Amino acid sequence: MKYLLNAIALILTLAFCGGCGGSGGGAGGPSKWKIGMSQCNLGEPWRVQMNADIKAAADKRPEKLQVIFKDAQNDTLKQRAQIEEFVNDGVDLLIVSPKEAVPLVAPIAAAYQKGIPVIILDRRIQSDQYTVFIGADNIKIGMAAGRWIVSKLGGKGNVVELKGLMTSTPGQDRNRGFREGIQGSRIQIIFEADMKWLEPDARKEMESALSRFDGIGLVYAHNDPGAHGAYIAAKAAGREKNILFVGIDALPQEGQAYVRNGVLAASFEYPTGGRESIETALKILGSEKVPKEIPLSSRFFTKENIDKGGEDIAAIK
Ligand code: FRU
Repeated sequence: MKYLLNAIALILTLAFCGGCGGSGGGAGGPSKWKIGMSQCNLGEPWRVQMNADIKAAADKRPEKLQVIFKDAQNDTLKQRAQIEEFVNDGVDLLIVSPKEAVPLVAPIAAAYQKGIPVIILDRRIQSDQYTVFIGADNIKIGMAAGRWIVSKLGGKGNVVELKGLMTSTPGQDRNRGFREGIQGSRIQIIFEADMKWLEPDARKEMESALSRFDGIGLVYAHNDPGAHGAYIAAKAAGREKNILFVGIDALPQEGQAYVRNGVLAASFEYPTGGRESIETALKILGSEKVPKEIPLSSRFFTKENIDKGGEDIAAIK
């Protein structure tokens, strides 16, 4: 009897589990590819949008894919642990949007060396131990913002720079690109601070800038929550009408809406790459070759161009 039951169990396993154990989505296999998505935080609308874009793209292939999301709540140690959990759970592929460039190198390299393909989204890591990077070029975006600001201010003026987390690559690159963009002009950065991508921190830093300087012409913030935080501080001080605010992200419901209602003078798009990450994951899991870098383009939005859907940043000379 026992032998008979074992034999039946074996037959059932062979019949129904042809695609089990990480080979999901294969021809005729009943299981799906399991993708682990490690999101560094869901505090900003932009990251909520990234997860929604990933889910929408994956939902188009329910027979092939299952995506499991983990939110590290802006805690690098938690993100490290969550990546390790995904590896222990036997995911077929990892998507990681890392908080910081250095501390996540080790867990990502460990996953990659185990043969798990890794897609890095948006923020880079300081290593080449991953399969593909997908994201827009933050140096180009910073440079475009710098050039646009030079022309908007007529080549001179006092600017406050509210920087994104400087241990993350978009913060470093948006700073570097911007400085190159304003080179040769008479624009002066009279105050700069790391607001770590966070609106409340941006508001606090802007309060300090306002208390120290009278003639602030413009605030360049590395993201739209930062630009909005600066605007709120200026408004509380009754000075928002004399200052222009520029941000990055340009989500329709956030940065673009701020441009429409006059809070921001410009917002530069930072695409989430959510859809592209799923398209790329399907290729990798289907054994197609993918490039090491998938660059995304960016548009910018101002009062003048927003009704036409903005313009490519390449138009800024
Ligand atoms: C959200 C965010 C965005 C920014 C991106 C950079 O956490 O701060 O606003 O564009 O991360 O990685």
